[in-house]
Amino acid sequence: MKTAFIGKPANRVDGLAKVTGSARYAAEHNIPNLVYGYVVPSTIAKGRINSLDASEALGLPGVLQVFSHENSPRSAQSDDAYRDDIAPPGSPFRPLASAEILFSTQPVALVVADSFELARHAASLVRVEYAREVHATDLYAGRGRAHEPKPREFIPTPHVRGDADSRFAEAAVRIDAEYRGPAEHHQPMEPFATTVVRHESGRLTVYDKTQGAQNVRNYLCNVFGCSRQELRVVTPYMGGGFGSGLRPQFQVFLAVLAARELKRSVRVSLTRLQMLGLPRRPATWQRVALGASTDGKLKALIHEALAETSRFEDYSEPVTIWSDLLYRCDDVRLAHRVVPLDLSSPGDMRAPGAAWGLYALECAMDELAYETGIDPIELRLRNYTQRDHVEDKPFSSKELRACYQLGAERFGWARRTARPRSMQEGEKLVGWGMAGGIWDAFQVGAQANAVLTADGRLTVNSAAMDIGTGTCTIMTQIAADTLGLPIEKVTFTLGDSSLPDAPVEGGSWTASTVGSAVRAVCMKVGDTLLRSAREIAGSPLAGCGPQDVVFAEGNICSRQDPSRAVSIAQAMRHAGLGAIEETASAGPLPEQEKYSRFTHSAVYAEVKVDEALGSVRVTRVVSAVAGGRILNPKTARSQILGSIVMGMGMALEEESVLDHRLGRFMTRNLADYHVPVHADVQGIEVIFVPEHDEIVNPLGAKGLGEIGIVGVAAAIANAIFHATGKRIRELPITLDKLL
Ligand code: MOS
Repeated sequence: MKTAFIGKPANRVDGLAKVTGSARYAAEHNIPNLVYGYVVPSTIAKGRINSLDASEALGLPGVLQVFSHENSPRSAQSDDAYRDDIAPPGSPFRPLASAEILFSTQPVALVVADSFELARHAASLVRVEYAREVHATDLYAGRGRAHEPKPREFIPTPHVRGDADSRFAEAAVRIDAEYRGPAEHHQPMEPFATTVVRHESGRLTVYDKTQGAQNVRNYLCNVFGCSRQELRVVTPYMGGGFGSGLRPQFQVFLAVLAARELKRSVRVSLTRLQMLGLPRRPATWQRVALGASTDGKLKALIHEALAETSRFEDYSEPVTIWSDLLYRCDDVRLAHRVVPLDLSSPGDMRAPGAAWGLYALECAMDELAYETGIDPIELRLRNYTQRDHVEDKPFSSKELRACYQLGAERFGWARRTARPRSMQEGEKLVGWGMAGGIWDAFQVGAQANAVLTADGRLTVNSAAMDIGTGTCTIMTQIAADTLGLPIEKVTFTLGDSSLPDAPVEGGSWTASTVGSAVRAVCMKVGDTLLRSAREIAGSPLAGCGPQDVVFAEGNICSRQDPSRAVSIAQAMRHAGLGAIEETASAGPLPEQEKYSRFTHSAVYAEVKVDEALGSVRVTRVVSAVAGGRILNPKTARSQILGSIVMGMGMALEEESVLDHRLGRFMTRNLADYHVPVHADVQGIEVIFVPEHDEIVNPLGAKGLGEIGIVGVAAAIANAIFHATGKRIRELPITLDKLL
């Protein structure tokens, strides 16, 4: 495949719209006569609503309605109707369905008024009396109730091979450690919001903050019993998701409910406090036990996880399965259990499962490196595997070895002295740590549609999403390259449920999934053009098949002799076509199933620790990523940079703090919930390791949305140990733990 644009650092096609503010986000679609909904959140974690008195709120001029379980119209009654495309097993939460309280901050009422301020004020006047019941929100106190979760799609069940416990007991070197991580909320820049525009016809256009316009559309149609003609979900821009928007959230339900009942256009936007009941990375406990020979070869690997879920859904994520993919070991025992708590369901958050799992595994490997006196990279190389022994398949490609090596060179790892506290700079202790990472390289099914007009303009459409990652830009590059058009002549349209089918943007699968569909549909347009070009009398392309031509600079050229060419415009004219329109779909091929497909990374971190204050600065990070072919080095680098910053937050700052007396998260805004700010971020370098992969998908691209965070927290925690000699096994590593 030729590459006029793929592989080039093209600017974001929507960059100008974003920086000039013309890009509209879910709460920014302003139309006349809009009314505003404001959510009343539950103040208890478990129990029932005894009474709900909205009379004072309703008495205010301008308040239209207060919806609650008492007057909410009946939506669908079966669980199935509420199960969105990626719901975990269980009974999804139904907003305003009953008096039962399942979690603190659960929406108990929606006040609708003709201004946002009035709705907010009126919400404060809604009197709710509860019958409290005893709640349980502590993972550790609830571990006696742990069970194995029901299986979830795309997530392998943790397995057992050999006899890890016996091999561990007899191993020459043993590491057995517990690691803890708190709940984390995604905290995207754009809060959750929905603007429902109700048209004269009664049809609804739903501008929703979501990672899946079609997932939301399907959910709303099922729940409210309406047709796809009646309701369209539109999300051309999204201000960050990180997984929080994979499932439809309650604000979209409430906004659509109000719009249907009041026959008005309605906006519901949530505060950060009201978003505490949205998904979060679940608090997770892990045990990693490594048995090894004195030369560092793994003889036993035990990885157990315990995580929180809600009472109504069995959310689980792949925490432990990576351990048996990253290293070679014959005796492995993996286990994952969940504890149902009186909290909302957790959900996927950037590299769900792997972010926790690789934190624990790669810290344990560091502990083993110290125990055996082997350099951490050398230890990993001694346990390297070039085959997936779980599925007994080769990898489609795996350049992790190159990640270790190129990352180490760039970082200067060879200058590290291994002993803890051995590197200092003035008053500061300096620490260097590293970790490896792994994540899936998925491809699923998607469709795209393309229209090429006589003026040489190409429009490609798919209901894919751009959650800020650069999807729109790379799809434009793929389309332009496939048909040899200038990039300015190509428009990619996404984020609209009425476009050809595409899955939620998640799992790092969008580049491969939607990219393959875009390529397929453009090739189909190319075939139509070639058929026409061949028919021109005396055509220089007579007898050429699709394999014999390339598309470049607006021409169809013979591969053998590029001077034999027909312009796309000529081919269009000859066919007498005003436009060529094609639709195509693409999905994983059976051939791919013979291989295991993953991205890999190696992360190196430098910290400087002020022991008197317990403060940690991450002064350098080098991340070397093997993600197949890099479609756009600029947006790809941004993906990894953002992931690393998020990994720094995970290591040092992020924690959704629960007050178990109230069963409520206390970190209700960005003053309480700490994320890295600009001043926390110093030198970060991203290296893309060359990785050629013709199996993973026709583009050879693996997807980069999640691999960047995997391993970052471990690299930083290991660097802190190297600096201080203190092994902190609980995230975030705040100064109180270091003092
Ligand atoms: Mo990602 S957690 O699948 O948005």
